[in-house]
Amino acid sequence: MTKIYDNTIGIKDINLKINDGELFILLGPSGCGKTTTLLCIAGLIKPDEGEIWFGNEMVTSIEDHIFERPQDRNVAMVFQDYAIYPHMTVFKNIAFPLEIRRKPKHEIEERVKKVAENLEISQFLDRKPKQLSGGQRQRVALARAIVREPNAFLMDEPLSNLDAKLRVYARAELKRLHQRLGTTIVYVTHDQLEAMSIGDRIAILNNGILEQLDIPENIYNFPRNIFVAGFIGSPPMNMLDGTLIEKNGKKYIDLGIKMYELPNRFNNLKKSKTTNAVLGIRPENISISKESIDNSIKAKVDIIEAMGRELYIHLKLNEKTIIVITKSVEDLELGKEVNLIFDDKRIHVFDKQTEENLITRPREEESND
Ligand SMILES: Nc1ncnc2c1ncn2[C@@H]1O[C@H](COP(=O)(O)OP(=O)(O)OP(=O)(O)O)[C@@H](O)[C@H]1O
Ligand SMILES: [Mg+2]
Repeated sequence: MTKIYDNTIGIKDINLKINDGELFILLGPSGCGKTTTLLCIAGLIKPDEGEIWFGNEMVTSIEDHIFERPQDRNVAMVFQDYAIYPHMTVFKNIAFPLEIRRKPKHEIEERVKKVAENLEISQFLDRKPKQLSGGQRQRVALARAIVREPNAFLMDEPLSNLDAKLRVYARAELKRLHQRLGTTIVYVTHDQLEAMSIGDRIAILNNGILEQLDIPENIYNFPRNIFVAGFIGSPPMNMLDGTLIEKNGKKYIDLGIKMYELPNRFNNLKKSKTTNAVLGIRPENISISKESIDNSIKAKVDIIEAMGRELYIHLKLNEKTIIVITKSVEDLELGKEVNLIFDDKRIHVFDKQTEENLITRPREEESND
């Protein structure tokens, strides 16, 4: 699908296969095209190019002039601001989609009660929304979506109005609900932690383009490019500029302060056009040592942040700051020179020009089946 607004790219050549029953995440920074994708699926906007299929049914095809109306697609949208009606009771709010479909009264009552029980809001059915907490209101919005028994849920940042603590609770609830209902959910967020914690698979968008689509674990461990590597993970992956060099059959990346020897898997790389490269290593994959070894790199302790469960050590490596996550500060002093040891198995090397990871694995084409 492609959707261009006036001169702005909404989404460009996005191709996704969302599996039946999965909790599928659209993740990316503000303006990357998440809402645009959802609105196209819902039929609330028309793409400029492309097709959308629900199972065997083509619901949008620009070429074939097919465009099924949103009300016929039977998908339920849940937005960030819930859009529940303040003048109606919780019961009325949940019943609303059934009432406009002229369902019989007893059926409405039965279905509303069942959903309310499921979401543990039965005791609030007579209240007005303003008499509820944010989290409870949010469950009312979910209940109203669920009661329709739609083919799929399209959720656009549904938890973003909740405070941090409630959010963690709400996302676990959502995951549980999804497991119980088994209905496909397409879930939009710009919060990478939320995406990693609840998603079956994640599509990462950037500037309207699909950067990577895979299960959370692969996105984290095998980012396809510098954007994905930097977007997922907190604190983010450390990136060091360097030059690829081959000497005596061994591959190195020259980091200026150090000729860093790359592990064997870098030996048979497809030739990259350039030797300008970026070495990426996550903060939890670096250890700090007093002793220097073959491949260790010297750095100076700059800042120590105590985060409770762990420590973030900021170190200076020339002008560059490297962050390391450790459990203890034994022997660490500000200004002291130490040796950094990178976990070889966890090193990434990116082409500086194309920003592609030089070693890729399960491509999204494979995991997109
Ligand atoms: N109606 C519109 N007219 C013009 N440009 C639009 C319109 N809607 C969206 N855009 C542009 O299209 C791009 C994608 O917008 P979209 O709303 O899909 O982003 P998003 O990923 O949902 O962002 P956010 O996280 O901020 O909600 C943005 O650059 C946005 O400014
Ligand atoms: Mg949006």
